[in-house]
Amino acid sequence: MKRIAFLNSRYIEFKNAKIHIEDRGLQFSDSVYEVVPFYNYNLIDFDFHFLRLKFSLKQLNIKYYPKKIYLNNIFKKLIKINNLKSGIIYLQVTRGVQDRDHTYKNNLKPNVIIYLQKKLLNITLKKIKAKKAITYNDLRWKRRDIKSVSLLANVIAKKEASKKNAYEAILIDNNKITEATSSNVWIVKNKTLITHPANSDILKGVTREAIKKIIKDNKLKFQEKTFTKNQLYKADEVFITSSTSFVTPIIKIDSKFINNGKIGNISSQLALIYSNLFLN
Ligand code: PDD
Repeated sequence: MKRIAFLNSRYIEFKNAKIHIEDRGLQFSDSVYEVVPFYNYNLIDFDFHFLRLKFSLKQLNIKYYPKKIYLNNIFKKLIKINNLKSGIIYLQVTRGVQDRDHTYKNNLKPNVIIYLQKKLLNITLKKIKAKKAITYNDLRWKRRDIKSVSLLANVIAKKEASKKNAYEAILIDNNKITEATSSNVWIVKNKTLITHPANSDILKGVTREAIKKIIKDNKLKFQEKTFTKNQLYKADEVFITSSTSFVTPIIKIDSKFINNGKIGNISSQLALIYSNLFLN
């Protein structure tokens, strides 16, 4: 079966989906993206992703105004024609093509790229998988709330993690943990869940928002505040959240074991409650 992508207004064969060499996404990272998971042919948290996409586009003044139902239909159609049961939808909107110049023109036509990737999501009814992480310097720009494809600092940090057989790199800015290269970071201390406030220092994760709701519904203790590397090492539990990792417990960071290298109760409960929303 042929793999099909969506490029601008057309469904075309994946290998023929091409972008111009002067696309500003390629030359300046002048471009935003979303990663939307789907499971059993169903989209997960689509509405949140759509809202964040609109936010990112608006912040960068990229003139693309799709209706929610329009994108929803494209996503569903791609899942159907590619006959993929679960994975992620990758959507990228670039500002468009222009003779190379830092200043952009106002009348550019955005390029819209949408395709599916087969991915194992950390979703289960039984035992969730735990992972190792490293810590790394947060070298990124100062508008991390915009989901832009300006990801070089993330790429460098993630490569360091993989060289050390770790799953993620947890980023440190001014001795504060911000987030990880492609996920948000949480700690549990004395039964209180703590994560970095959603300001311009981090991406406001869709999964983070969904977990916040579960925390509220289950009347767990929660604080949005910054924490240090030392507090991270000394946490009772650590986990990360993202559209592909869902809730993934971290049981070793650098050379330090968290919770003696075992998955903590709160992390595993949250992972199961969140997974359950999509498995039934
Ligand atoms: N990354 N922080 C960063 C820097 C991210 O790139 C992501 C997501 C998250 C978690 O956001 P969400 O829960 O909405 O997925 C936090 C995606 C998965 C990626 O780049 O592949």
